[in-house]
Amino acid sequence: LARRWGSVVIDDDPYGMLRFEGEHLPTLRELGAGDPLVFSVRTFSKILAPGLRVGWLDTVPELRQLLINAKQTMDTCTNMPAQRLLTGYLTGGHLEKHLATQREQYRRRKGAMQEALGEHLGDIATWTDPHGGFFLWVTLHNGVDTEQLFEVALAEGVAFIPGPAFSPAGRFHDALRLCFASTAPERTKEGVTRLRRAIDQTAAASAGSRG
Ligand SMILES: Cc1ncc(COP(=O)(O)O)c(C=O)c1O
Repeated sequence: LARRWGSVVIDDDPYGMLRFEGEHLPTLRELGAGDPLVFSVRTFSKILAPGLRVGWLDTVPELRQLLINAKQTMDTCTNMPAQRLLTGYLTGGHLEKHLATQREQYRRRKGAMQEALGEHLGDIATWTDPHGGFFLWVTLHNGVDTEQLFEVALAEGVAFIPGPAFSPAGRFHDALRLCFASTAPERTKEGVTRLRRAIDQTAAASAGSRG
């Protein structure tokens, strides 16, 4: 389709290197078999530190100058000291060890969140079992609207992204996205306990307003 329309396919892939289980999945670039119209935009934000503001492109060398020119029109260039810092880190061979540690930690944190959900939300919700990334997609089966739930959960000290934020058509009012990556298991457990409290309060409030 992209070839027919002379369009590029940009694979925005911040999580591909953080796959912690399951078989290898090809990137869009691998599937594109060297087609220069398919390239990946990657970032150190999720694998090292968002504050570095450094990322990279996986593409063919012929596109290099064109892409540098395009970047220059946006923000002149990516911060040089951070690029130098990263060059030292990468040439020192530290990335693979760091990624291995991170992957293991995220795998454990995902498991901890799923366990807490099983304990506290097992009767009213189902959730995904991702092989990578930072998030679980939780679907509520008790009629609670996750946009209404959001304010109540914030008051309990828990945040999530309500499902409709992921749908241009405003679907997924019964769903929410939870991040397991940045929280240690004990805190996750506490967060899920509070989330359950917020869900019960929201359900009671909407039952009250119905009659
Ligand atoms: C889909 C996606 N791509 C890329 C990024 C990272 O962007 P940046 O490299 O500008 O920090 C994020 C971060 O939230 C993201 O969600």
